[in-house]
Order: sequence, then structure tokens, then C-alpha cells
Amino acid sequence: MPTDKITAAGAGTWTLGDRTVHRMGFGSMRITANPDRDRAVALLRRAVELGVNHIDTAAFYVSPGGTLRVGTGPARYATELIRAALAPYPEELVIATKVGFGYDPEAGFTEALTAAQLRAQVQENLRRLGRDQLDVVNLRLGRGSGPVPLADRFGALAEMRAEGLIRHLGLSNVRPEQLDEVAGIAPVVCVQNNYGVDAYREQDALVRLCGERGIAYVPFFALAGTGREAGVNATRSEAVETVARAHGVTPHQVRLAWTLHQGRHVLAIPGTADPEHLVQNVAAGALRLTPEDLTQLR
Ligand SMILES: NC(=O)c1ccc[n+]([C@@H]2O[C@H](COP(=O)([O-])OP(=O)(O)OC[C@H]3O[C@@H](n4cnc5c(N)ncnc54)[C@H](OP(=O)(O)O)[C@@H]3O)[C@@H](O)[C@H]2O)c1
Repeated sequence: MPTDKITAAGAGTWTLGDRTVHRMGFGSMRITANPDRDRAVALLRRAVELGVNHIDTAAFYVSPGGTLRVGTGPARYATELIRAALAPYPEELVIATKVGFGYDPEAGFTEALTAAQLRAQVQENLRRLGRDQLDVVNLRLGRGSGPVPLADRFGALAEMRAEGLIRHLGLSNVRPEQLDEVAGIAPVVCVQNNYGVDAYREQDALVRLCGERGIAYVPFFALAGTGREAGVNATRSEAVETVARAHGVTPHQVRLAWTLHQGRHVLAIPGTADPEHLVQNVAAGALRLTPEDLTQLR
């Protein structure tokens, strides 16, 4: 397809509460690793030019240190790169962020359990993004919720939603029964868990459950899978490669297309620091797999 015809609109749309997004979005975790700030800013602008209107981020996506523990020099926050690239924000852009985890250069990763800690993280996101309201905030759960029940933590975010600091809420790293634990506190518009064609397939049931409840399922590491890196260390799958050859596309594009074929409520947020990969990923939103392809990839 000619590059000027490639658009995230090819993936179709889904609604997160009252906001409509193209199902092919962008994950911003890896842009902080780009040693060239201007290139990271240009990549974000290019994503939006290509029709991406759903960007995933977190205030703790920061280099050096932070999630990727790479880089040197002054801190580069994904949230601040997004602001530098895109503010004043286009009306249709939805930025989803997450709280519950934090990063402190002294203390390393921290988990926010109390209402005050969660509020501080929401305020940090508002400040770094330069917004008055966060479109979507996912409560990112750790291995256990410690001494604070999930309902209390989600309830604290629901209060901030009622105050207008947050528009919509989601959950990340969540188990199916935890959706019931928060039922009635505030609507959950999305679930963000680790899932891919050959990774964490025990999530299939949760993907279906989300579909039944009208909740977006937004997998992370849809490319990287269990390996965390989809570059040279990517898990190779013969089935993925066979389907890719049949369509004349890359295995990464097949992984993204497979993701989107798991239900209209499934959204993709691939991360890349490479402008060519960005274009390929957006193009994958328009790739239609056949029933035979899907059987082969099952
Ligand atoms: N909720 C959570 O706990 C959680 C956890 C992790 C991540 N996330 C979110 O999920 C997003 C996606 O995860 P991710 O970015 O870590 O992983 P990913 O999208 O599964 O894979 C990214 C990796 O794939 C490579 N890649 C991307 N497109 C490619 C292509 N077309 N061809 C070849 N290689 C390609 C990237 O390298 P290049 O830069 O070289 O393209 C990078 O190494 C994150 O950005 C973040 O927003 C959420």
C-alpha cells in the first residue's frame, strides 16, 4: 500500500466511554529510550499524522532508569515527550495512562497503595502531560494489592473521576474476578494485560469476558510476547511466519493483525522507536486474516 494511504482508521474504531479511538494505537514506553529527543518527538507527531488517536503512557516511563533502565543524561519522560510533540492536543486524541506503579530515582519502583499516593500520581500525570483531565487512567496492579483492598484503591480513583480529574477508568494486570470486585464503583472501560498470539493465551477467557461486557481489551507486549523485546530476540513462530509470507507482510504485522482479530473490542498499542516500524504497524491495522490463517495461528 502506498505510504500516503496508510492510516490507523484502517483498523476500525472502538469507544472508550464517550471517546472513540482507532483500534490501532501507539504505546509510548519505548520512546524514552531514543537518545535523540527530536526524533522521539517527530515519531509521536508522525503517529498522529497516520491517524493514531490512542496513545498509551505512564509517568514512570522515564529514561535513564524507569521501566527500560536505559540511557544516560537528563531524564526523558514519555509523558513530557508527548506534551512537547502534541500539545495543544487534537480534540480526538485519547491518552491513556496508568497509576499504581511509580518510579523514584532513589527508591526504584514503588507501588501506590493509598488514596494519597494514587492522587499524587494522577497529579504528576496531569502536570507532565499539561492537562486538566486525564482521558483514561488504568489502575496497574502489582503481584498483590498488599494490605489495601482493590476496591479501596479503585474507589480512590473513582473519587478523582467524580471530581473531574479523570474521564474514564481501566485496570491493568488484572484477573477476571477482580473485575467483579470493582463492579458498581465506577465503569471499567478497558483492561490492559500481557497477551499475544503465542503468549499468555490463558487470557483468552478474559478477552471474551471483556467483549461480553463491552470493555476494551488492550494487550501490551503483543509483539514482544514473553520476551519483552520483539527485535532480534523475538520469539519466532513458524505459523506466524507462514501467514506473513502468504500475505507478503512481516511477522510483526501478522501479530498485530491477529491481535485485532480477537474481537472488535481488542485494541493494539505497539511500541516502537523506529519510524519505519511505526508505518508498518499502522498498516497492519488494515490487514485482514482469513479463517484459515486464524486456524493456523490458533
Ligand atoms: N500495563 C502494563 O503493565 C504495560 C507493560 C508494558 C508495556 N505497556 C504498554 O504497552 C505498549 C506496548 O508494549 P512494548 O512497546 O513494550 O512492546 P511491543 O509493542 O510488544 O513490542 C515493542 C518491540 O517490538 C519492536 N517492534 C515494534 N514494531 C516493530 C516492527 N514493525 N518490526 C519489528 N520490530 C518491531 C520494537 O523495537 P523497535 O523500536 O526497533 O521498533 C520493540 O523492541 C508499551 O509501549 C506501553 O505503552 C503496558
